[in-house]
Amino acid sequence: MDEQSAPLRAPAGTHDVLWPQSVRWERLVSEFARRAERAGFGLVISPMFEDAALFRRGIGDESDVVRKEMYEFADRGGREVALRPEGTASVVRAFVQHHPPVPWKTWYVTPAFRYERPQAGRYKQHHQLGVEVLGTEDPDVDVEVVTLAADLYLWLGLGQVELSLNSMGCGACRPAYVAALVAYLEEHAAQLCGEHRERFRVNPLRVLDCKRPECRAVTEGAPRITDYLDEECAAHLARVRAGLDEAGVEYRLDPRLVRGLDYYTRTTFEFAATSLTGAQNAVGGGGRYDGLAEAIGGPPSPGIGFGIGIERLLLACDAEGVFPVQPPAPDAFVVDVTGGTAARALCVALRRSGLGAVRAYDGRSLKAQLKQADRSGARYALIVGPEELALDVVTTRPLRREGPQETVPRASVVQWLAARPKGEEESDQR
Ligand code: HAM
Repeated sequence: MDEQSAPLRAPAGTHDVLWPQSVRWERLVSEFARRAERAGFGLVISPMFEDAALFRRGIGDESDVVRKEMYEFADRGGREVALRPEGTASVVRAFVQHHPPVPWKTWYVTPAFRYERPQAGRYKQHHQLGVEVLGTEDPDVDVEVVTLAADLYLWLGLGQVELSLNSMGCGACRPAYVAALVAYLEEHAAQLCGEHRERFRVNPLRVLDCKRPECRAVTEGAPRITDYLDEECAAHLARVRAGLDEAGVEYRLDPRLVRGLDYYTRTTFEFAATSLTGAQNAVGGGGRYDGLAEAIGGPPSPGIGFGIGIERLLLACDAEGVFPVQPPAPDAFVVDVTGGTAARALCVALRRSGLGAVRAYDGRSLKAQLKQADRSGARYALIVGPEELALDVVTTRPLRREGPQETVPRASVVQWLAARPKGEEESDQR
């Protein structure tokens, strides 16, 4: 086959999610929505692409995400736009644009695009569940946000997720820390990795985030930001810690946790799945960004949020053997060997009364239809053959437990099925 006629494939680093794998996505998103809504968060939907300037100013020109990974292009009208590499900047832009009443508590589910070298757990398009709260700097909100994420991992059944917590300080106390860090890095510049030997003066905090062993060894002994926090930032961190302790959310204080985006102030946190390897084990992370709204031209408005990578989260579930794929089974598979008209009508009636009903097409044989019925996981086969058609009845056959066949008048089969209790295998689906 020449290249022209070879079937096209999804771009490297992107994925199709087909049923039944997609069932997990649906359940995860709806559970997240339920939990977020219970805590007072409302869904926000914002565009997949924005002025590239939003991300440059919001996330930071010096971050890897903007410098190396952004899908940026001029559209047909010559506007510089970028596909969103994450959700926060757009949500803050929407907040500044629409000035909703504060505190503004929002949740979202979104694709995010980063031009990264694809590998297990690192994709060019991934998907995030996230929340953002704008307009309050109350540390109790930080606790609420972190707990919302932590509880989702627990609900999934994940036991090997570790939370790291730090404070990045604020505009008032961070400069003194950065100065101390630069002085330290100057002394150890020769031991840093190639990239950071060149660049540590431009964005010294990035060195703390570098995963290369050379930099890790140097930053081991670096000054700790938590020793430089001013009174307000220290009090903020103390209250966040007390709140997490009270909620029973375990964490480790990690003064090197600066995260890859430049907008963070005060609280930062990251959830790592120890069941996954190395650099791709972050299954969620976030923090405060009290200067972000101002950086993109809005009034000063504090904010905090997190993003959870759906693909990585599901990889972690697979690694721990939890949150299995459980496709919902239909209530009935209608088997019709009399031409399909009975199946057509019965399916409509069953579905209209809230029952799950599927059928075969293309006039398949009784044997083939029964096989398909078995595979569908349906609770009952509702069989219409020539005899049933003549008597205006349906033969009902339980498929997932032992039990007798019954003959039920066609006109009352919907009520008959609605009255059958669901078996254990259905009722224990979360
Ligand atoms: P982030 O740490 O860059 O933060 O991404 C959040 C999560 O998305 C990561 O923990 C990871 O699970 C997943 N993720 C990131 N990049 C990839 C990738 N290339 N492939 C697969 N999964 C990935 C943010 O994006 C911030 N907006 C979070 C936040 C919200 N901070 C405050 N509010």
